[in-house]
Amino acid sequence: MTQSRLELAFPQGTPEGKLLFVGAAAGDNLHPLSPETLTVLQRQYADHAGLKARGIEAVTALSGDARFDLAIVRLARAKAAARADIALAAGHLPAGASLWIDGQKTDGVDSILKELRKLAHVDEVTSKAHGKIFRVGIPQGDWIPAEWHAREHEAAPGFVTLPGVFSADGIDPGSALLAQHLPEKLPTRVVDLGAGWGWLSAQALSRAGVSELHLVEADHAAIESARRNITDPRATFHWADARDFRLPDPVNGVIMNPPFHQGRQADPKLGAAFIATAARILTGAGRLWMVANRHLPYEAVLAEYFGQVHEIGGDNRFKVIEATAANRGSAATRKGGRR
Ligand SMILES: C[S@@+](CC[C@H](N)C(=O)[O-])C[C@H]1O[C@@H](n2cnc3c(N)ncnc32)[C@H](O)[C@@H]1O
Repeated sequence: MTQSRLELAFPQGTPEGKLLFVGAAAGDNLHPLSPETLTVLQRQYADHAGLKARGIEAVTALSGDARFDLAIVRLARAKAAARADIALAAGHLPAGASLWIDGQKTDGVDSILKELRKLAHVDEVTSKAHGKIFRVGIPQGDWIPAEWHAREHEAAPGFVTLPGVFSADGIDPGSALLAQHLPEKLPTRVVDLGAGWGWLSAQALSRAGVSELHLVEADHAAIESARRNITDPRATFHWADARDFRLPDPVNGVIMNPPFHQGRQADPKLGAAFIATAARILTGAGRLWMVANRHLPYEAVLAEYFGQVHEIGGDNRFKVIEATAANRGSAATRKGGRR
């Protein structure tokens, strides 16, 4: 989709100068951009790693003195995150430079276009493939409203996070339900898969028994917030893809509220991959506690990887599941899963 919009925006071929692209994904066809002059700001682990594997410079932040000749911002879905990315890119461009905005209609490109028209000169608006790309000429002086800049805010008492991070406005109700069902005493070595800004991990650390807790999270902004929120020395932070996460030694507890969306698409395969990882990193006697939306079909994959699976709580929206004891010699082990 975006490929065709990029080609329409740059009909002369590779644009000249150093180009910043905020939000390009690993699978994007970036023609006619050149990897030689391109820096991509990408905070999602798998996309970041995939871009690097393609020989593209990928970063999670920009140093204050980084300067570019032009920039493209792929709109994030959350409006506050989209505005923050625009403010960030604009801050690294000189007056007169071009800032291109590319986005899907479903991600609010029309409303951002309307807002930017009031702030700067906008032209070269092209609609294609359920989205738009357009050019903003960077004006002299401060032109971005102060509230557009990314600012940490309190998501819950004692917990900060940033726009665009999962459940940035408060504690996720699924995680709250899971926390209620965690036992008073947890195993010694625990992993939180998809730890977000750290609320669930903090609840686990408040239980007896935990001597080490690993937070695994793909969103760099989320894991950095978690790092700020949890200063307990038992916590270790991993910016990583939970689907292929490993530790040198197995653990005896996993907690998780797995994601089930890739972009706007519901994708239970993601949760299934988290379940497979839990099975792989747990000892035979280890336990998994997870929460999921009730309608998500995780029973078959849980039965494939765990010997005993119990629903220990829930309501009409969520189910809380405890799974234990690997089927040693069964599917999980045969697949090279549990040790
Ligand atoms: C449903 S949220 C739960 C967040 C957190 N545990 C909480 O209670 O608020 C799922 C989290 O998984 C993260 N995530 C999505 N895909 C991931 C992946 N492949 N590896 C690691 N984390 C991922 C998301 O960024 C999100 O923070």
